[in-house]
Amino acid sequence: LNYNVGRERRYILEVLLNGLRRLEYRGYDSSGIAIDSDTSSVMQSKSKPYDTAPPVVFRQEGKIESLVSSVYTEVDQLNLDLEKPFLVHAGIAHTRWATHGVPAPRNSHPQSSGEFDEFLVVHNGIITNYEVLKQTLVRHGFTFESDTDTEVIPKLAKFVFDKARDGEGGVTFSQVVMEVMRQLEGAYALIFKSPHYPNELIACKRGSTLLLGVNELGGETSRHLFHDVKALTANDKPKELFFSSDLCAIVEHTKNYAAIEDDEIVHIKDGSVSILKFNYEKEKPASVQRALSVLEMEVEQIKKGDFDHFMKKEIHEQPDSLTTSMRGRLKDGVVGLGGLKDHMRTIRRSRRIIFIGCGTSYHAALAARPIMEELTDIPVTMEIASDMLDRKALIFKEDTAVFVSQSGETADTLLALEYALQHGALCVGVTNTVGSTLARKTHCGVHINAGCEIGVASTKAYTCQIVVMVMMALAIGSDKMSTLAQREAIIAGLTKLPEKVHDVLKLDGEMKALAQSLIDEQSLLMFGRGNNYATALEGALKVKEVALMHSEGMLAGEMKHGPLALVDEYLPIIVIATRDDSFSKQQSVIQQLHARKGRLIVMCSEGDASLVCPDGRSRVIEVPRVVDCLQPIINIIPMQLLAYHLTVLRGYNVDQPRNLAKSVTTQ
Ligand code: G6P
Repeated sequence: LNYNVGRERRYILEVLLNGLRRLEYRGYDSSGIAIDSDTSSVMQSKSKPYDTAPPVVFRQEGKIESLVSSVYTEVDQLNLDLEKPFLVHAGIAHTRWATHGVPAPRNSHPQSSGEFDEFLVVHNGIITNYEVLKQTLVRHGFTFESDTDTEVIPKLAKFVFDKARDGEGGVTFSQVVMEVMRQLEGAYALIFKSPHYPNELIACKRGSTLLLGVNELGGETSRHLFHDVKALTANDKPKELFFSSDLCAIVEHTKNYAAIEDDEIVHIKDGSVSILKFNYEKEKPASVQRALSVLEMEVEQIKKGDFDHFMKKEIHEQPDSLTTSMRGRLKDGVVGLGGLKDHMRTIRRSRRIIFIGCGTSYHAALAARPIMEELTDIPVTMEIASDMLDRKALIFKEDTAVFVSQSGETADTLLALEYALQHGALCVGVTNTVGSTLARKTHCGVHINAGCEIGVASTKAYTCQIVVMVMMALAIGSDKMSTLAQREAIIAGLTKLPEKVHDVLKLDGEMKALAQSLIDEQSLLMFGRGNNYATALEGALKVKEVALMHSEGMLAGEMKHGPLALVDEYLPIIVIATRDDSFSKQQSVIQQLHARKGRLIVMCSEGDASLVCPDGRSRVIEVPRVVDCLQPIINIIPMQLLAYHLTVLRGYNVDQPRNLAKSVTTQ
């Protein structure tokens, strides 16, 4: 919402469309926006039930760029002047990842109350009782156009508004929204726009993340994370206000933001902001004072720079992201994790540590599991969040549950968190996203500080997650004298890690050549074990999710119990056989695969080529050797590069693979 700035329509459109471009990684099958028209425009109609200018709504299927071109074409057709300045303007926009209903303009947001767009809503989340609400609204004469759960929300708003208007006195925008909230079940972050309330916006949330960005409050702001700078009061008149479900969409406008809490309603009116706390009883809602935080993120992080793709940029950024992840946390040979220190006693006394996550985050936890067990002497079990919920897995108050999530918004992980909280476990978060639900709902945690990750396939977040969990293991185990030398060696290894990652990135050309040789394959297997079982799973996930090639990561110890039947001279198999305790076992795996004429690509430590492949028949990838628990960080990088090049060579979209979204915020 622009207030008192006199921005022209072109600027307003670009802010909204650009915000969508930044959020496209969250979902990109359809999108839409709503802006204001002019009182003089052709859009005016005598019969409309309000005196103000009607909103103009654009919806489009496909990527954001298809919305962009259709918006400019339609603006032209509607004779809307792009240079027209607005003293105040409230616009909303949304990019969708279909849950209910196919990607189509009618299913895109903003969803509308019906004719004249009296209420428009964009929604992130899921309304679980929409069918009941829909039936009631249909009985009251509403007709539905979309297959979405969201459509009930604007229609409910109109229903509430009409009912209140027919009665005594007026009804404020926030009263309407509060009544709507009372009826909704599920998870949501919502923004409402209505011509009945021109120049106002209302946002509210329950479950899904909602952030408010405030621009041009004036004065110098602190550049440190979580340093509150100024309380936002109803008398402030900021010039630009933003709502978003991710700070990535607003960082180029402002670094001053506030995370909105569950059941809060933010009402922007005449450039001032008021935050109200919703309550189910129809009492007057309490007003909330909220301090603004300052985001520590540079705009460059969300731009591609000189790279062709975000995935490539993020792979090559890893020496820097790992350095940032460790910054300030390794001092004089001691690991300090401020976010855990108050809970360290409880963690050390826990009966078990449970790692919980999905996708790549689960793999990162799997990579850190051996060292966590070794240094802490606490058993570590692994849970894929959805499976934990399906099984209603046993969890006790003596457990420490570590939730790992790049976005901090993955629905399954958050539901597993709710479950663990209910069972009284200590809940620790490991996330890349400041202000995310995971960061807010866990008892304590560590930010991985990898910087904004845009490519759908996680790369730098994976390696930073491992580093953070290794540091956690070092911190939890720091009271044990027996492992002192080992801990010192790991800390020395961490210090040198960015340099080693820099070295392994030099394999880029070699991985491109390998990708070229695999371009037409149907399938690719990866065998790993011990510290590098996770590398095999994650390497295979990278190949399947971006290069759209079937790939499976397998535990080498299980090879003879089934997978060996697949081996022939055609199927390419990557065997991870870098030096550690399980090296000799991997050598024997290689021999068995050779005996079956397997087509092998062996990853080994530098200088070991002739050991792993004495007859020179296999392709060899040599990588720098680091301490065992950090080796998965080195080993995944050639796999990331391979997946990247395979994708580009096969002609697929690297940053937005088919059918996938970066952050899966619905179950
Ligand atoms: C999605 C993404 C994956 C990611 C997983 C978990 O499936 O496509 O790349 O690993 O979610 O996401 P999180 O944000 O919880 O780490």
